[in-house]
Amino acid sequence: MHRFKLPPQILRLILVAMAIVGSYLVARSFLVPPSFGEYGWYRGDALKLIAARDPVFAGKQACDECHSDILHKLAKDAHKTLSCEGCHGVSREHCDNPDILPVKATGSHCIRCHEANLARPAWLKQIVVKDHYGPKCTECHLPHQPTQSP
Ligand code: HEC
Ligand code: HEC
Ligand code: HEC
Ligand code: HEC
Repeated sequence: MHRFKLPPQILRLILVAMAIVGSYLVARSFLVPPSFGEYGWYRGDALKLIAARDPVFAGKQACDECHSDILHKLAKDAHKTLSCEGCHGVSREHCDNPDILPVKATGSHCIRCHEANLARPAWLKQIVVKDHYGPKCTECHLPHQPTQSP
């Protein structure tokens, strides 16, 4: 009776495949960081690393101590959802030392959000700046109370 014998070329293929899978598993055990998978599909230690960084922005509440009048104004008008530092730039240093003033907000930053652009949502009021009343936005709109004029 004929006994089945694995043809040598198939046996070699199986050995090569096992070598590939095996070296993959060995490499994986060396390369995967220890905390990978602790919380999910990423390196668990990354959370600690990111949390240990100094925050870049001071946040709206940090301005309350010295500019609470502006916080109140802002909260009552159309710009209530905006952050102070979205217009004034990172102001953390200024909070610690008011002598270091934030970057001057010139008004050109208004068009970053309000220049008409089809990609913007319809609820955001948009203007075609060159057809609007003029480029000096703050002559007619108070930045902290944009629906009111100075
Ligand atoms: C410890 C007090 C203090 C804190 C906190 C503070 N400021 Fe000020 N800020 C001042 C003082 C003092 C001035 C200068 C006088 C003035 O204009 O009222 C000033 C001025 C400014 C000016 C005018 C700058 C200019 O060129 O005239 C801006 C804008 C400003 N602050 C934004 C902010 C923002 C945004 C925050 C929060 C992230 C903040 N400030 C937090 C005290 C503070
Ligand atoms: C939409 C952009 C915008 C936002 C949001 C904004 N500001 Fe301003 N802010 C300006 C502009 C522009 C000026 C300059 C006004 C001018 O030149 O007449 C200004 C002026 C100021 C000044 C100088 C004094 C004054 O009253 O004019 C301070 C202080 C200030 N902002 C603080 C704040 C704080 C605190 C917040 C957050 C609660 C904030 N701003 C939010 C645009 C903004
Ligand atoms: C970070 C984005 C952003 C910046 C910068 C910004 N705005 Fe606005 N603005 C908004 C949002 C959001 C609203 C509320 C939705 C709306 O009314 O379009 C708004 C509302 C307004 C309105 C009220 C429109 C209405 O009749 O309801 C005016 C006017 C306005 N902004 C003018 C300005 C001026 C002037 C500046 C610069 C000093 C400025 N905005 C900077 C986002 C921005
Ligand atoms: C000479 C005065 C004047 C100047 C300068 C001006 N505006 Fe206006 N803006 C108005 C008036 C008045 C309205 C009321 C609605 C209208 O007539 O379009 C208005 C309306 C708006 C609206 C609401 C539009 C809507 O669909 O309801 C936005 C947003 C706005 N302006 C942003 C700006 C920005 C950003 C600048 C600077 C590039 C600016 N404006 C400069 C007078 C002015």
